[in-house]
Amino acid sequence: MQTHKIAVIAGDGIGPEVINEGIKILNEISKIDGSFNFKFTHFPWGCEFYKNTGKMMDDNGIDILREFDAIFLGAVGAPGVPDHISLWDLLLIIRKSFDQYINLRPVKLINGAPCPLKDVKTDDVDMVFVRENTEGEYAGSGSWLFKGKANEVVIQDSVFSRKGCERVIRYAYELAKKENKSLTSISKANALNYSMVFWDQIFEEIGKEYPEVETHSYLVDAASMFMIKDPKRFEIVVTSNLFGDILTDLGAAIAGGMGLAAGANLNPEKEFPSMFEPIHGSAPDIAGKGMANPLATMWSASQMLDFFEHENWAKKVISCIEKILTDKKILTPDLGGTATTKEVGDEIVRLLKTEI
Ligand code: NAD
Ligand code: IPM
Ligand code: MN
Repeated sequence: MQTHKIAVIAGDGIGPEVINEGIKILNEISKIDGSFNFKFTHFPWGCEFYKNTGKMMDDNGIDILREFDAIFLGAVGAPGVPDHISLWDLLLIIRKSFDQYINLRPVKLINGAPCPLKDVKTDDVDMVFVRENTEGEYAGSGSWLFKGKANEVVIQDSVFSRKGCERVIRYAYELAKKENKSLTSISKANALNYSMVFWDQIFEEIGKEYPEVETHSYLVDAASMFMIKDPKRFEIVVTSNLFGDILTDLGAAIAGGMGLAAGANLNPEKEFPSMFEPIHGSAPDIAGKGMANPLATMWSASQMLDFFEHENWAKKVISCIEKILTDKKILTPDLGGTATTKEVGDEIVRLLKTEI
């Protein structure tokens, strides 16, 4: 029996509500399959922990997490704790410490998912974002001078290293080649005259190694427009940390909403654990009401199954999500239904057992 050791950080707001359902389906899958199982270890880290201890996680949190095969994270952030503290001291520090330099975010409109765009077929929205996940605009470098004075100055540096750009761009080319898809780079070299000029140069350099891959390069402003007006232009997309963050919320909006959008933070070399999470936040506006959509978390569980090379199960989870969406009977309010988070989880378990 193969055992996958998973660290669970359910976190804040709707995090625990959705992560419970994710764990429920992973346990069900391991039960049906019988050749592997999951050992979940829960950590109480997050904003409540911060309010009690002044820290978002234990001092040796990163050392503790290092021993796991993967991390399953709900969401981080709560009113009363500054976001730049809660996110930097938990989510972002994990992505950086474990060199999870690939943030893989599917933007895929599956059957039954609502799309606000006119005249769009499901096949037209079928992208995978490869977001740089450890540096760029999120380098965390800068200074705050003359605080509170009239001459106050704030500097936020972006850091684009050759190694950092090359590895994420190469990963995206490899993915495009493997899947026989086009690759689009999204940048902004007309205004960001160092970082994005460098990014574009590396995109071209690496491209020489992949003559078979069709490429496109868009400025981020035009890319946002094309994602709405003509989404089928995009297949595999590679972009910087901040642009990837923003464009994947836009992507969520055209592919069923925040309740369906998943992401994997990968350390492809498997030197450190990778982390799987829905891309939405803690949604304080609906937290504690049992109405959060757990399907994004399940989709990220599917990414975890893929990562552990249980590809068939990964696909089955997506088929179950597709089934629940096309049935339209058991959906949370964000998708027009009246079901609770738990009812959606129970229905996916039922589908795993019976339909698929
Ligand atoms: P959010 O993603 O939490 O919520 C945006 C909107 O989408 C809200 O109206 C919310 O109700 C809705 N929504 C999100 N997930 C949903 C789900 N599963 N089902 C149904 N509706 C859902 O973004 P926000 O409001 O900008 O941020 C709230 C907090 O979360 C902040 O503290 C922010 O910093 C944090 N945040 C954390 C993460 C993370 O942990 N990965 C990601 C984004 C934001
Ligand atoms: C995301 C989130 C995070 C990010 C925040 C919470 C720091 O928005 O995962 O998309 O910007 O990466
Ligand atoms: Mn985001």
